[in-house]
Amino acid sequence: MKQISLSDKCILITGSAGFIGANLVLSLLKSTGHKNMTIIGVDNVNDYYDVAIKQYRLKQIEEAAKTSDSSWIFYKKSIADEAFIKELFEKNDIRVVVNLAAQAGVRYSIVNPDAYMEANVMGFYRILEACRHADTEHLVYASSSSIYGDSTDIPYRVDAPTEHPVSLYAATKKSDELLAHAYSKLYEIPSTALRFFTVYGPAGRPDMAYFGFTDKLRRGEKIKIFNHGNCRRDFTYVDDVVEGIIRVMQGAPEKKKGEDGLPLAPYSIYNIGNSRPVDLMEFIDILAQELKSAGVLEADFDIKAHQELLPMQPGDVAVTYADTSALERDFGYRPSTDIRTGLREFARWYKEFYLS
Ligand SMILES: NC(=O)c1ccc[n+]([C@@H]2O[C@H](COP(=O)([O-])OP(=O)(O)OC[C@H]3O[C@@H](n4cnc5c(N)ncnc54)[C@H](O)[C@@H]3O)[C@@H](O)[C@H]2O)c1
Repeated sequence: MKQISLSDKCILITGSAGFIGANLVLSLLKSTGHKNMTIIGVDNVNDYYDVAIKQYRLKQIEEAAKTSDSSWIFYKKSIADEAFIKELFEKNDIRVVVNLAAQAGVRYSIVNPDAYMEANVMGFYRILEACRHADTEHLVYASSSSIYGDSTDIPYRVDAPTEHPVSLYAATKKSDELLAHAYSKLYEIPSTALRFFTVYGPAGRPDMAYFGFTDKLRRGEKIKIFNHGNCRRDFTYVDDVVEGIIRVMQGAPEKKKGEDGLPLAPYSIYNIGNSRPVDLMEFIDILAQELKSAGVLEADFDIKAHQELLPMQPGDVAVTYADTSALERDFGYRPSTDIRTGLREFARWYKEFYLS
């Protein structure tokens, strides 16, 4: 593995108004270990979910940038905009790229396929093309646990089969891994895919179940629980994901030659998940307790009376659970925040953002 120092480098982070991207930028700006970085953020700030949350995150970043020794430049642009991406790479000596911009969400891809092809396939292709003509030391990009399809062979290992995605979202993420592999092989671009497992936390995504449940419960409505609650997930706290990304950014796959004298693809894949799956009903119980403690729900709120148990939805997977041994082996790291601690932070943020 090639060690990469982030200090004094120009780093591009796409999707930087998004949940994971904004937290990554914040952590880099506040870091004392990495100095004098130029951090360029790109995000089209689309309205797939409440834009106020994206603006809130961007504001937090601007505040952090004021006291950071690194600089922050933001472009409200699409990564699928060929001319913009080309110019961005021509005008800046971008060495490390973290591509988090994407149309996320499994259910939305069933009714809005275009958005996925545009951002996840065409957008990522533009980034790859730009890296091909730049001195890219490391391209890190978001893949997803959804590419394991409905495999019941758990925990999911990075070398498990992923040829049978069960949603368009997953198919686009698998396509990203295939495109990156081809570019790594052909142009020796060191690239690393990160397969994230259900990431949650403060200022998270309102389209995700824990956030939607909170909105509904606060309004006194019933929450829909699919597959009759018979579902276990790796819930991964956002700070753990960010820590994992920053470690991975600093360790790029080596460029090596094969027996035929041709370059081998400098290409890696890691799972980033909590690797301790939680029963959905337990997750909901803890969420309700923490929402009560934070004052989002009344102390006598009856969570059982606000649940509607339903069958499985198309594209959903009953159990997702990461094998993180590759990440532990190469980076000495595994996510560890327990769900009560993580949900407490989410509940406090929710109270502050919506109810104060
Ligand atoms: N949060 C999770 O649980 C999870 C799980 C698996 C994978 N991922 C992946 O991680 C990445 C980050 O996820 P997130 O949860 O922060 O999602 P997010 O939706 O909060 O962030 C993605 C950002 O990308 C931006 N974007 C979309 N299309 C764009 C385009 N064409 N050009 C520029 N910006 C664009 C959006 O405006 C958004 O701010 C995504 O690639 C997502 O698919 C997330």
